[in-house]
Amino acid sequence: MNLVLHITVFIFFWLHLPLLLADNSNTATATITAKPGCQSTWGNLTVPYPFGIGVNVSCSLNPSFNINCDTFSDPPKAFLGTTDLEVTAIFDNKIWVKNSLASVCYDKDGNAPTDNLVSISLINTSFSPSTENQLTVIGACNMQQKACILLILWLPFSFSISKQTINNSTIALPGCPTKCGNISVPYPFGIGLDAGCSIGPWYDINCSKSFNPPKPFLSRTNGEIIDISETKIRVKSNGIAYRCYNQTGGITRECPTVYGIDETSPFNFSNENKFIVVGCDDVSYMAKVATDNLISSCAAICSKNSDLSDGSCSGIGCCQNSIPKGLKNYINFLNSYGNHTKVSSFNRCGYSFLGEQCRYRFHPSDVSDSNFEHRIVETVPMVFDWVIGNQTCAEAQKSSLFACQENSICVDSDTGLGGYHCDCSKGYKGNPYLRPGCQG
Ligand SMILES: *[C@@H]1O[C@H](CO)[C@@H](O)[C@H](O)[C@H]1NC(C)=O
Ligand SMILES: *[C@@H]1O[C@H](CO)[C@@H](O)[C@H](O)[C@H]1NC(C)=O
Ligand SMILES: *[C@@H]1O[C@H](CO)[C@@H](O)[C@H](O)[C@H]1NC(C)=O
Ligand SMILES: *[C@@H]1O[C@H](CO)[C@@H](O)[C@H](O)[C@H]1NC(C)=O
Ligand SMILES: *[C@@H]1O[C@H](CO)[C@@H](O)[C@H](O)[C@H]1NC(C)=O
Ligand SMILES: *[C@@H]1O[C@H](CO)[C@@H](O)[C@H](O)[C@H]1NC(C)=O
Ligand SMILES: *[C@@H]1O[C@H](CO)[C@@H](O)[C@H](O)[C@H]1NC(C)=O
Ligand SMILES: *[C@@H]1O[C@H](CO)[C@@H](O)[C@H](O)[C@H]1NC(C)=O
Ligand SMILES: *[C@@H]1O[C@H](CO)[C@@H](O)[C@H](O)[C@H]1NC(C)=O
Ligand SMILES: *[C@@H]1O[C@H](CO)[C@@H](O)[C@H](O)[C@H]1NC(C)=O
Ligand SMILES: *[C@@H]1O[C@H](CO)[C@@H](O)[C@H](O)[C@H]1NC(C)=O
Repeated sequence: MNLVLHITVFIFFWLHLPLLLADNSNTATATITAKPGCQSTWGNLTVPYPFGIGVNVSCSLNPSFNINCDTFSDPPKAFLGTTDLEVTAIFDNKIWVKNSLASVCYDKDGNAPTDNLVSISLINTSFSPSTENQLTVIGACNMQQKACILLILWLPFSFSISKQTINNSTIALPGCPTKCGNISVPYPFGIGLDAGCSIGPWYDINCSKSFNPPKPFLSRTNGEIIDISETKIRVKSNGIAYRCYNQTGGITRECPTVYGIDETSPFNFSNENKFIVVGCDDVSYMAKVATDNLISSCAAICSKNSDLSDGSCSGIGCCQNSIPKGLKNYINFLNSYGNHTKVSSFNRCGYSFLGEQCRYRFHPSDVSDSNFEHRIVETVPMVFDWVIGNQTCAEAQKSSLFACQENSICVDSDTGLGGYHCDCSKGYKGNPYLRPGCQG
């Protein structure tokens, strides 16, 4: 009885699901088109680039995206690339193909005289199985005196294709790489020095192949990039300031830090960074490079380890302060009230750094962790806001170099230093800096 039910369910899906998806495809492909000069439909199937109909190789991205049409079948059928998979729909980064049922039937002696196994090879194609697929196994049953195992691949079978395979042009300029190692590099940033892939020299990324995987660096400031988002860029810290003392208060190790990016650069420290000090007898000062002007200070004090509490950074063992607007460089140095002589049993060093606040959580053990500097450099990046140039939207709009493309809006920097960024207008998506702009 159970078996009959399962079989019924199975047949239902077999018959109906492809139709449901075909309906979806009609609405979803409305904005996606074939290459100019290439046929865009076959029967009910809409074929957007990078797929292309027929053997004309210039219609598809490469042979694995060819859609081969069967002109003899009625209604016409279409098959994918070099496979014998029948295509039922293409949209939204996925392709649906008709799928078969695999079954193995055993006789009373355990032999399997009939089987119908299905295997699909995706080797050397741009496709990978979509997570929407499910492999369902309906267990042993008694059908015509035989025990059968039915393998049902949920219908229809879909494959997801990574967006980058399809169209790099929504990330980078045509012909430019989109990634360095595993870090995505969206325009206006671009890989290569003066390679024509970025909007200007400040946005050139030096992709260093001396690492495996390769690592991206901001070519003008040398920071190792951790990620680039629509308005921010995260860079690995190049070191934190520290000062360590021996039991009698003599300084054993010391390192102030200087970090600077050029005043004319389109980057500034984001307010997602905090100026953070860790220690029990430490005060840290931040000054603007080459000016002596103090811009922030913070004191971290405690008298015994039990004063400290997890996650609390309000002056006891840990202190944090915000940074001034438009900050581009700083010098950071530590001092102490009593040279750590009263706390040296559990805290020898004071530390201070500027880093992404949400990536750092204070733990009482931090004040005695000899690996602290290294751990912070590895786990707490610095965040920069980036803008285009140093003009306001109103000024830039008059220029032929205005960076915002169709269906985007220009947003002025609020630092008073000029510069703007582009956002897709409401309801549009894509890279607002790349032609033809954001798409509906
Ligand atoms: C192949 O398609 C291109 C358009 O992408 C077209 O210009 C060309 O004439 C086609 N070649 C043939 C043989 O149909
Ligand atoms: C197109 O789809 C409709 C229903 O969605 C179906 O009735 C028709 O037979 C299909 N035509 C072809 C050529 O597949
Ligand atoms: C995949 O491509 C590589 C290199 O082009 C080739 O050596 C290999 O035989 C191909 N594998 C299959 C299964 O086609
Ligand atoms: C990439 O996508 C953009 C916008 O979505 C489109 O205008 C462009 O023609 C596509 N390029 C290719 C090579 O498919
Ligand atoms: C897309 O970018 C990748 C990685 O950056 C590159 O290997 C590939 O050749 C690019 N594809 C196209 C069609 O430009
Ligand atoms: C890149 O790779 C590193 C190490 O393999 C990993 O820690 C990091 O999360 C990856 N980043 C992305 C964006 O995938
Ligand atoms: C690119 O980065 C590597 C590694 O940091 C460095 O050795 C090289 O000099 C840099 N190249 C340029 C032109 O900045
Ligand atoms: C601590 O450092 C000072 C200055 O370097 C030195 O004179 C003193 O001997 C050191 N004390 C101990 C206990 O190492
Ligand atoms: C940094 O610059 C961006 C863009 O100009 C601006 O919105 C942001 O407020 C600035 N951040 C700070 C902390 O000044
Ligand atoms: C701390 O050490 C400095 C020199 O290393 C010294 O001038 C100062 O007097 C010391 N302060 C205390 C409270 O020991
Ligand atoms: C703005 O940028 C241009 C080009 O980078 C530079 O020549 C000019 O001096 C800058 N203006 C200001 C006010 O920083």
